[in-house]
Amino acid sequence: MMDPKKNKKIFSGFSYKYFFSNKKENLLQERSLKQEEKLATGNVVFPSNALVELTAGCNHSCVFCANPRMKIQGKKLDIDIYKKFVSEGKELGLKEIGFYMRGEPLLDKRLRTFIEIASKAGIKYIYITTNGARANIAKVKELIDAGLSSIKFSINAASRDAYRLVHGKDDFDKVIKNLKDLHEYKNKSDKEFKIMASFVVTKFTEDEIDEFKRVVIPYVDDAKILGVHGQMGQSLEELTILESTKLTAPFDKIDKAKPCPMLWNRIHLTQDGLLSLCCVDYDNNLIYADLRETTLKEAWNNKIINNMRERHTNGNIKGTLCYNCLYGKKEPLEPIMNCDLKLKPEKIVKRGEKSVLDRVLELRDRHEG
Ligand SMILES: C[S@@+](CC[C@H](N)C(=O)[O-])C[C@H]1O[C@@H](n2cnc3c(N)ncnc32)[C@H](O)[C@@H]1O
Ligand code: SF4
Ligand code: SF4
Repeated sequence: MMDPKKNKKIFSGFSYKYFFSNKKENLLQERSLKQEEKLATGNVVFPSNALVELTAGCNHSCVFCANPRMKIQGKKLDIDIYKKFVSEGKELGLKEIGFYMRGEPLLDKRLRTFIEIASKAGIKYIYITTNGARANIAKVKELIDAGLSSIKFSINAASRDAYRLVHGKDDFDKVIKNLKDLHEYKNKSDKEFKIMASFVVTKFTEDEIDEFKRVVIPYVDDAKILGVHGQMGQSLEELTILESTKLTAPFDKIDKAKPCPMLWNRIHLTQDGLLSLCCVDYDNNLIYADLRETTLKEAWNNKIINNMRERHTNGNIKGTLCYNCLYGKKEPLEPIMNCDLKLKPEKIVKRGEKSVLDRVLELRDRHEG
């Protein structure tokens, strides 16, 4: 196993990260760095990678995530839109699909069917990122049989107590059991799949990094430990309290002269059949097309996305979510397209017994006390 102490801190995306691997190649690290490669700005080739959101609903309410405060309603993706996406995407060169975005993919019982459709269409790499509470061994075996290539468990604390406060649900023991059961199954079976994990570190949980290396890393192929970020300005208030002294990068570390590679490197299908520029577009501010009304090929080069590519290239993004994201602001913004969906008033939902704010304060007191 790679010695975690020798791991270098890498700045990637919006925070510092440590990558670990028990294998020769480190797929999580490769994926992260590939995602950031800057494509020639005029060169708009169709990307090989897509994220598909079965639902934006979630059963957890992590203190740093914008999910509990998003204004859209959790729904289910229409299967016919998805089939259209896969068949047109495959023609255009799509090779990988990740089933997650703003919500929890295992809340949708149809996940197995969606994976099967992608696998049968010839999509080479199919993966999910999950909080793992519903990833019991029977369920994950089903997904692997359907064609799942890898599963990443997001485990954002290394003790039951801190996990309950961070995730808002007392699921730590269940998630660790699910992870260990899967590890055992992998060792016994001849199935090809990868197990991964991530830990989003806050100021109040960074003293659990060593414990994470002990209780999680031995059971995975690859892992990453990363600093919490402000989710594109959408959970900035919490960030100022939660930012990790070791791993959260200051906003001046982000190179604003470079256009964001997300607009060139990946395509995002939301639960409503819409295409978004970004995986963390919690309130649909970066929707550029409605796949019910256009082809994927047209959408990928339509006026709205091309205008945003140009604005990113010229550094002219004020008034958009991208500006708040790159500059760490919460300034007024306009959606880049009117997609006519009903939005809820801004209110943080409470899942479980305690509110996000109460848990942030309890984490702080626990840390300081
Ligand atoms: C939004 S979640 C969706 C998938 C699934 N619900 C999960 O938690 O894995 C995708 C990833 O974003 C991470 N994440 C959420 N909020 C974050 C933040 N403020 N900073 C860094 N990562 C964050 C989660 O830990 C998870 O690994
Ligand atoms: S990080 Fe994942 S599990 Fe946590 S609230 Fe966000 S979507 Fe849900
Ligand atoms: S909000 Fe915009 S700038 Fe930020 S990651 Fe998403 S696409 Fe890139």
